Amino acid sequence: MTKALKILKQTQSERIKQALLLLNDKEKTKLLQSFHPDYKAGMKKKLRIGPNKGEQIPKEFIELLEAYSPFSPDNFNLSKTTLKTDVLIIGGGGAGSTAALIASENNAKVLLVTKLRLGDANTIMAQGGIQAADKPNDSPAIHYLDIMGGGHFKNDPELVKALVMDAPNAISWLENLGTMFDKEKDGSMITIHGGGTSKKRMHSCRDYSGGEIMKTLKDEVLNKQIDILEFTSACELLTDDHGKCVGAITLNMETQEYQIVQAKTTIIATGGSGRLHIQKFPTTNHYGATADGLVLAYRAGCKFSFMDTIQYHPTGAAFPEQILGLLITEKVRGLGAHLVNSQGKRFINELEPRDVVAAAIIRECEKGNGIRAPSGILGVWLDSPLIDVLKGENTVNNQLPAMLRQYSRFNIDISKDPILIYPTQHYQNGGIVINDKGETSVENLFVIGEASGGIHGENRLMGNSLADIIVFGIRAGKYAALKAKNIGNNSKLTLNHIARYHRKLRELNINPNKISPILLPNYRRE
Ligand code: FUM
Repeated sequence: MTKALKILKQTQSERIKQALLLLNDKEKTKLLQSFHPDYKAGMKKKLRIGPNKGEQIPKEFIELLEAYSPFSPDNFNLSKTTLKTDVLIIGGGGAGSTAALIASENNAKVLLVTKLRLGDANTIMAQGGIQAADKPNDSPAIHYLDIMGGGHFKNDPELVKALVMDAPNAISWLENLGTMFDKEKDGSMITIHGGGTSKKRMHSCRDYSGGEIMKTLKDEVLNKQIDILEFTSACELLTDDHGKCVGAITLNMETQEYQIVQAKTTIIATGGSGRLHIQKFPTTNHYGATADGLVLAYRAGCKFSFMDTIQYHPTGAAFPEQILGLLITEKVRGLGAHLVNSQGKRFINELEPRDVVAAAIIRECEKGNGIRAPSGILGVWLDSPLIDVLKGENTVNNQLPAMLRQYSRFNIDISKDPILIYPTQHYQNGGIVINDKGETSVENLFVIGEASGGIHGENRLMGNSLADIIVFGIRAGKYAALKAKNIGNNSKLTLNHIARYHRKLRELNINPNKISPILLPNYRRE
């Protein structure tokens, strides 16, 4: 590391003068196919059950989907409903909290269940910012094109349209609730670039944007006295005789008691799947990101899209070992930091879409141009001290306080020393198919946020996830509340969908000891 550090410092002034490395589409495709983990042979398997039967998806998802429910439909007593609500929201991150606020504003009785505490979710860990085309030189149409380009033009156009049209309103809504976005002295919003953006439209709260947004939402949910059950996981959905969703079975994780929650409409906002550690990658994700919402919705009959594509954030911490895989925000690259290999060379335009940048970093490491940390892990440099050189003294201090603090715990000053990074599992590009109201193909079941699929196509761009959770949280919150008004109180609660799913599992001779969802990751050594 010491030798590579010396080379990095020696090459800095030369690199500043270097022209940007631009790849054409063919070169990008070749890079992705050769080095992106999604293309690695043998890492996917054919799914044998359910609406996506026959598709190749990561093995880690197969383990969860080709597994039995914790409940046997023959023995589980559904006659004692514990709780009744209009709208049941599963998940207490940004998407769930937004939906809860809006559903409640639309006069619905809301119950939010969350497996940890309210706000303990990926939203709070988001750093870089939230995209919205609200500047005079920008427009939702340009934002739309950027998103489509980033997603390899596979995205669902209607969902992208909804996202870009509503994103400016999402910013105003958050601001009115109290989110403190970064501003110029004249009060106008500061906006910056993210990877794959053609305009500066990233609104940030320094480098703790998600923390600031989640704090605002959490305060509002508490102020509005919305009913919340913390440390409560949804373990299965309930359906009626027609396959409509009528609530969920939840587990109180402290007492290990089950509750039967009858709901007129249900919104899944359970987030992603980083804690599955696909292909053994470390993750930026929250402890609760175990794909549980996906499992529940799939068993009820929902279809997935893009479950074969996982986002590896290019810059996860590779040193020190204690923070392996944690997020080093793209904002560091947005402020000008170079990615540099052991030869002191830049090897990619740092603001290409994430899949391209991640593939380039993996290529450098596989080709012997990586830098080995004392733990044995390979990475490349992110030249953070360059930021102050390019943007003026104290920019790192002012713009990246959370990053600075994270490293200061290990006596590393990132305004003076570079950061060693390697890609880390960050985001589930795909998920459950929804329409522009957040509705799924299962009547009365909505899905929002990272658990849904289609908005980001095969590759999400930075800042569109925070936009997505607010935009679709608002939409689903409203429509779930309106829909609930036309549904009566006497739905029949069944686990018929589970009985059907179990029959198929048995036909496939799946081992009956395989149970999902997993609610929290298991890091115990066997
Ligand atoms: O790099 C980041 O700050 C991550 C942002 C995002 O995933 O949207």
